[in-house]
Amino acid sequence: MFQLKLKYLPLLIFLIGVFSGCQNENESTALLDAEIKTLIGKMTLDEKIGQMFQAADGFYSSEEELKKAVREGRVGSFLNIQGAERVAEIQRMAKEESRLGIPLLFGRDVIHGYRTIFPIPLGMASSWDTSMVKKAMRISAVEAASMGINWTFAPMIDITWDPRWGRIAETTGEDPFLTSQFTKAMVEGIQGDLNDPTALAACAKHFVGYGMAEAGRDYNTTYIPEPLLRNVHLKPFKAAQNAGALTFMSAFNDLNGVPTSGNEFTLKTILRDEWNYKGMVFSDWASIEEMISHGFASDKKHAAEIAVKAGIDMEMATTAYIENLKKLIEEGKISEELINERVANILRVKFQLGLFDKPVENTALSTDTILAGSHLAHARELARNSMVLLKNSHHILPLSKEIRSLAVIGPLADAPHDQMGTWVFDGNEEDSETPKTTFQNLLGNKLHYAAGLEYSRDKSKNGFIDALAAAGKSDAILFFAGEESILSGEANSRGIINLPGIQAELISELKKTGKPLILIVMAGRPLAIQQELEMADAVLYAWHPGTMAGPAIADLVFGDYSPTGKLPVTFVKGAGQIPFYHYRKNTGRPASKSDVIHIDDIPRNSKQLSLGFKSTHLDYGIEPLFPFGYGLSYTKFQYSNLKLSTKVLNSTSTISVSADVQNIGNFETDEIAQLYIRDRVGSITRPVKELKGFKKFRLMPGETKNVQFDIKPKDLEFFNGEKFVTEQGDFDVWIGPNSVDGLKGEFAFE
Ligand code: BGC
Repeated sequence: MFQLKLKYLPLLIFLIGVFSGCQNENESTALLDAEIKTLIGKMTLDEKIGQMFQAADGFYSSEEELKKAVREGRVGSFLNIQGAERVAEIQRMAKEESRLGIPLLFGRDVIHGYRTIFPIPLGMASSWDTSMVKKAMRISAVEAASMGINWTFAPMIDITWDPRWGRIAETTGEDPFLTSQFTKAMVEGIQGDLNDPTALAACAKHFVGYGMAEAGRDYNTTYIPEPLLRNVHLKPFKAAQNAGALTFMSAFNDLNGVPTSGNEFTLKTILRDEWNYKGMVFSDWASIEEMISHGFASDKKHAAEIAVKAGIDMEMATTAYIENLKKLIEEGKISEELINERVANILRVKFQLGLFDKPVENTALSTDTILAGSHLAHARELARNSMVLLKNSHHILPLSKEIRSLAVIGPLADAPHDQMGTWVFDGNEEDSETPKTTFQNLLGNKLHYAAGLEYSRDKSKNGFIDALAAAGKSDAILFFAGEESILSGEANSRGIINLPGIQAELISELKKTGKPLILIVMAGRPLAIQQELEMADAVLYAWHPGTMAGPAIADLVFGDYSPTGKLPVTFVKGAGQIPFYHYRKNTGRPASKSDVIHIDDIPRNSKQLSLGFKSTHLDYGIEPLFPFGYGLSYTKFQYSNLKLSTKVLNSTSTISVSADVQNIGNFETDEIAQLYIRDRVGSITRPVKELKGFKKFRLMPGETKNVQFDIKPKDLEFFNGEKFVTEQGDFDVWIGPNSVDGLKGEFAFE
């Protein structure tokens, strides 16, 4: 009994420490470290190496083998083990039947919902609403915990500038500031109160630079110079650490010639030595062994040596560690001290999560929480907030609820699985409400449905006749275009990012009916939809909205709410414009709109050497299809009266920048105001726009609100290749509705 109490003491003190300030925190950290050391002192080398292994379901040849491994302490975590009862039983065995009673971590990818599926992360990010996203992740954690899961491999916080990359769907977009805000929200939502049975350990992934895969082809090589690494890609990971993320996952990519799962510079120099990260770092699936294919390790033993030295504490799914770490010690290539360090990081997470403490029967909660009414209501609200209105000619949207007839057409109108998007292991298509179902329920026989195309890549025109007939009988057409969930996500990269198949052809046929044509796009990436945009009267970009797609879309289509979403990524006109992002540099020959000469306008037999020596494309020009931060509403907002509290910032002061935003339309809704800066001259060149703040607020028709942001010297800081600096000089500042429009001011930092 006494022993038992002592065992829980460090956790208790650690938690008190977390909530009651630094000194206690230091004491509790020291106590916890001492407890971990004592435990490690009791462990055999085999037990230590066991902790460093995460077994995937199916790894052991039978349940008996699995249980034997647990009893013998040969495994520290499981991945994808299913079933609350089974998980509880395995956990009970670890705690009661293994020699030292060390609990297990049960990990699973709960990326944007467990059973209640929220929009894909890129959709969630379009809400620019961190509290809504935090709540969604809390709900996901509560549902997952009810199945015994205590660790999820989220948030995914890679930054990408390439919509060809399938995993763009899992990101929160192209911007380091926006992603860092969502990182904090997601980590806090997932972990909640670590004392609570519904707390899940969060995992910041993939460390680091994975989103820069060349040509957007998944797993491809990345080259990221250190300023870009630190100013962009590492930023969200620092935010994850600050938010208390208990774990980090290394990535698959080769970064500047060194695979990230064996990269001492990122894993050791930056993460451990510079940032002093105390959490657990684990590999991605097989990413240790894959260093052999990368040409960085000669065999599994070599790969294990590289990874363990660089700082990977636990290996996911593969066996380089369990097969080789002991041998590496025997050969004197690594020390047992190094193993102790790695194991300490693993045990720390188990203590912090309270796994030694929490009674096993509590690990598996009641299943009533799954798909609770409040969860579905939040999924609907977040889906609604994630959709971005890209075009709305002649206020065609919202439609009147009194509409006499409506055509619902398109391959994504009734796709219960695909509307959930990528990375859905536990969502069930039977739980999805599709647009077809919702509109049918709302309109009865006034609704004319025809798929037109069975799925996005369908090349058969057999369905066109029915689709045109449905359109002919209707006052307006809702066309649900897009791509299935399988076309985005891991390993699902595309070189051509247009609407797949012959959707454009069907849209063009429907256009000929002369009926109002409203395009609703469900996709896992920003597709190049220039052609379709021109044909449609309105375009609502819905991403993959999740379980509640149908009701959320209907809420917007019939004007119960206005769309409020804004783009977390730049939309390109075509893949040839990639990469195109607002954080770009200016070049020595920036073009303005008047410099652009279109390829069709070049005189035949032109003998000129060039057309102005400016940085532009002869076909695309200089603008993207839609800029970062863009999104329309059913109302209009007017920005005015930009004010800066002072024109000069110094190292101890703050500038307050404010503007008035007025709702000059007829619809009560939210606006998302954005703050950007530009550092005009730097010791290395600086981006043309950097997002530094955003605020979402509600305005009644006619109402004006003053939106205000603070800029501190820290906000001007950047890594210049040698160190982080805040340089004196002149800055531009904007408050606006997106990354290109807005009110511009200026200030100096002295
Ligand atoms: C992915 C990770 C994921 C892991 C486990 C890997 O292929 O890259 O993001 O968490 O699998 O499913």
